[in-house]
Amino acid sequence: MKVGVLGAGSMGIGIAQIAASFGHEVVLCDNNAASMERSIQGLTKILHRLVEKGRITLEQVNALLGRIQQTSLINEFNDCDIVIEAIVENLAVKKSVFQKMEDVVSDTCILATNTSSLSVASIAASCEKPERVIGVHFFNPAPLMKLVEIIPAIQTSAEVLQKARALIDSWQKVTVLTKDTPGFIVNRVARPFYGESLRILEEGIADVATIDWAMTALAGFRMGPFTLMDYIGNDVNYVVTETVFTAFYFDPRYKPAFTQKRLSEAGYLGKKTGRGYYNYAEGATNPEATKDQVLGQKIVDRVLAMLINEAADALFWNIASAEDIDLAMTKGVNYPKGLLAWAKEIGYQTCVDRLDALYNEYHEDRYRCSPMLRRMAKEV
Ligand code: NAI
Repeated sequence: MKVGVLGAGSMGIGIAQIAASFGHEVVLCDNNAASMERSIQGLTKILHRLVEKGRITLEQVNALLGRIQQTSLINEFNDCDIVIEAIVENLAVKKSVFQKMEDVVSDTCILATNTSSLSVASIAASCEKPERVIGVHFFNPAPLMKLVEIIPAIQTSAEVLQKARALIDSWQKVTVLTKDTPGFIVNRVARPFYGESLRILEEGIADVATIDWAMTALAGFRMGPFTLMDYIGNDVNYVVTETVFTAFYFDPRYKPAFTQKRLSEAGYLGKKTGRGYYNYAEGATNPEATKDQVLGQKIVDRVLAMLINEAADALFWNIASAEDIDLAMTKGVNYPKGLLAWAKEIGYQTCVDRLDALYNEYHEDRYRCSPMLRRMAKEV
């Protein structure tokens, strides 16, 4: 299969690398020459580092790079079997590009989008053959992260779904099937990791260092929520939250936090600007965690209850299977355990009780327990 990749930014170059490393001829298209050059140079550097480490030979590197044809013209997609789009996250731009691509690709070419927040149905609707459009959502960095969410739109044909999924499975990815709904699985289910941690901070229950300590040392997450937000970028993380919140018709469960908005407005974007929740300047001192086990456990129980509730609710709304929901969180964002498996371990009724306690304390819809979690507790 010949693979086209539209957009050679951080995601596009990673997807091109994967396809080329599995022997596909790749057409990589970007309308910005500087961006293309930066990405190709970056990839070349990464591959040469792998040569130094003895993980790959120089011949393999040259062959891999040789399989990536660079272009600024979408016409070059004319003999591709699939094109994966990874350009700017803007619906109008994506729609216009899909329309143009359809004019140049073959009748059987699959058009896939790597969108993380837009509706695949709306992108597909710009095509004359919407049944050929599908969402394939990779995670950053694409060559390293195992998960790919596969999102058929209501228009997508069964054949396109089967072919696209089989191709990505052949790249040794873990694919999960998800409904075309805001945030798909990962960006929906992960929201409380940030949102509830921010809420705990804003209420003054604990500071960022203590919350990060609790979520890593006591709950086993690789990174604490504030360290992770600084890493992702507070601008990026804020926009995802806001998009999900808006797309869910302002469900209070996804409400963004002013703290993050202000950081974003101030340009405290995190690691990339040297300052976020933490100060990354050389020699800067950062607050130390209060390593209070009781407080730490309280934080973990609360954030985890909200995460579990979100996973159960995704199951309730048939967004994906229980197995795929757990796989998505462990393989897409490296959670130490699948949330539904974790709920079973903690005890479903304990999770329900924690949520009901929060609901009784705040009387906010945000803390409503999913009917699925109650059902699970009853069925045990
Ligand atoms: P990026 O900004 O790094 O790269 C986008 C690239 O597309 C740029 O090189 C730009 O020159 C090019 N481009 C823009 N319009 C174009 C056009 N009309 N024709 C050809 N090339 C064009 O963006 P990034 O981060 O790689 O994201 C791309 C897509 O992947 C977005 O839809 C984003 O939501 C999604 N995504 C991003 C993730 C991330 O962590 N960065 C994770 C998963 C999905």
